[in-house]
Amino acid sequence: MRNFGSFALGLLGAAAVAAASDVHELDTETFKPFMQENDLVLAEFFAPWCGHCKALAPEYEEAATTLKEKNIPLIKVDCTAQGSLCQEYGVEGYPTLKVFRGLDNISPYAGMRKAPAIVSYMTKQSLPDVSIVDSNTLEGFKSADKVVMVAYFGADDTASNETYTAVAKELRDDYLFGATNDAALAEAEGISQPGLALYKQFDDGKDVFSGEFTEENIKAFAKVASVPLVGEVGPETYAGYMAAGIPLAYIFAETPEERQTLAAELKPLAVKHKGALNFATIDAKAFGQHGNNLNLEVGKWPAFAIQETVKNQKFPFDQSKTLTAEGVGAFVDDFVAGKLEPSIKSEPIPETQEGPVTVVVAHTYNDIVLDDDKDVMIEYYAPWCGHCKALAPKYEELASIYSSNPSLAAKVVVAKVDATANDVPEEISGFPTIKLFPAGAKSSPVDFIGARTVEELANFIRDNGSHRVDGVAARAEAEAEAADGEQMPEQAAAASEVPKEGEKDEL
Ligand SMILES: *[C@@H]1O[C@H](CO)[C@@H](O)[C@H](O)[C@H]1NC(C)=O
Ligand SMILES: *[C@@H]1O[C@H](CO)[C@@H](O)[C@H](O)[C@H]1NC(C)=O
Repeated sequence: MRNFGSFALGLLGAAAVAAASDVHELDTETFKPFMQENDLVLAEFFAPWCGHCKALAPEYEEAATTLKEKNIPLIKVDCTAQGSLCQEYGVEGYPTLKVFRGLDNISPYAGMRKAPAIVSYMTKQSLPDVSIVDSNTLEGFKSADKVVMVAYFGADDTASNETYTAVAKELRDDYLFGATNDAALAEAEGISQPGLALYKQFDDGKDVFSGEFTEENIKAFAKVASVPLVGEVGPETYAGYMAAGIPLAYIFAETPEERQTLAAELKPLAVKHKGALNFATIDAKAFGQHGNNLNLEVGKWPAFAIQETVKNQKFPFDQSKTLTAEGVGAFVDDFVAGKLEPSIKSEPIPETQEGPVTVVVAHTYNDIVLDDDKDVMIEYYAPWCGHCKALAPKYEELASIYSSNPSLAAKVVVAKVDATANDVPEEISGFPTIKLFPAGAKSSPVDFIGARTVEELANFIRDNGSHRVDGVAARAEAEAEAADGEQMPEQAAAASEVPKEGEKDEL
C-alpha cells in the first residue's frame, strides 16, 4: 500500500519527459535473467520500421519514467535483431505488449497505448486483487487511479468479503479495489456495512452503492458510476460506449470551449437519465463525418443526436433549433418514453422502375426485399465503388433473365440499394455485398460469396432460393426459342470476366 501519493503526482508530472531513457532494451542474452530478477515487467516487442511502435515510443518512455518509482520496469526487444526471442514468445505483430510475472506467468497487455493508461494498468497489476486500506491510507487510495472502489464490511462478514473479492478478480484490469473492516471509517464515509463507494477524479468524485451486496449489483453499479456524466467520444472511448448496452447521446461542437459550455448546459439531463443514457461531447472538427451515421447534416454544428446502440437506430435532434437544456431535455424525455420514431435515411421512392434491376430505397426495403412470396437477391452498393461498377452490366443481364419472363418475375426479384444513401437493417462491411432473401425465410438471408458471373449468381438463386428457379436453363430456353426461325442460331454469350473470390471495396 505504498506510494499512492506519488502515483497521483506522477500522473500530474507525466508531461515532463526524462532525457535518458527509462526503458530497458533487452536482447537474447539479457532477457531471461532480467525477467527472473523482476517480479512484474511490461515488455514491448517492436520493429524499428513499425509506425504504431513509433507512435507508442514517447508514451512508453513517459510511462517507464513514472513506473520506475514503483519498481515496475518497462523493457523493449527489437525483433529485427532478436528474432528467435520474439518467436519464442509468439510475437505475430508489432508492437506486441506482454506482462511478465517471471518467465512462467505471461499475459497480454490489455490496456490503451497511452502513458496514463499504461501507468494505471501496470499499477493495478502490481497490487493484490483487493488492497486492504485503513484510516491512514484511505485518502491516498481514493485518488490512486481515475476510478477506485472501496468496500466496507465487518471483519466476520465472510460472505460479503467473498462476493467483493470475486468481483475484484474479474474486473481488476478495469478498476482498483480496496476494502476495510473499520466500522468507524464506514460511518465517516456515510456507508452502512456491508457497503461500497466508488471514488472518481471527475463529476462529484464519489458514488455510494445502495442495494443488496451481490456480484451482479456491484458490477452494474460500477458500470454506471465509473462513466463521466458527460464524457467525450473519441477513438479511445467509442468502443466502450458502443458496448455499454445503453443509448448514447452525442453533443457535436467544434471548439473545446463550446463543448464545455454545452456539456455544462446539458449536464442536468445526464444526471436525470444516468444509467439509462450515456452523454458525451464529440469534436465536430475532427469527427464531424460521424454525424452522417446519425443522419445529421455534416457541418451544421453544434448538433445533438441519440444513437440506440443495440438496434442501431438514430434520433437526430432538429438542427434548425438551438441546443438548450429545455428543448433537448424534452427531446430526451420523449426518447426515453419511446415516443420518438427513429430517423431513416432514404432516397425518394422511384416513380417507375426503369431497368431490369429493381431499385430499392429505405422506404421500400421491407415491401420489396421482405416480400415473403419471392426469392429476392439484393446488392448493397456504393456509387463510388469500382467493383460495383464492374458488376453492373452482368447484374443487369442476370436480372433480365427473370424480369423478361412474367412467370419467373412472380418468383424472383433481382434488386439493388445504394447503402450510402439509404439506411438498411443489415450490417454491411464492404461493397458490393450481395444477399439472397429466400421466400418464406426472410429472417435467414444467405450471403453470396462466389465469383460474380451471371451463371454463378443464377445458380446461387436456384440452389438457395425457395422457388428453385433455374435461371441458366430458362435463359437457354428463351434463346433457343428466339433462334427458332432464324437462319443462324447465335452462340450463347461468351463467359464473362471472373473477379477474384470475395473481392470487395473497403468501406
Ligand atoms: C477478506 O478476506 C481475506 C481472506 O480471508 C482477508 O485477508 C481480508 O482481510 C478480508 N478483508 C477484510 C476487509 O476484512
Ligand atoms: C447456395 O448456392 C451455392 C452456389 O450454387 C451452393 O454451392 C450452396 O450449396 C447453396 N447453399 C444451399 C444451402 O443450398
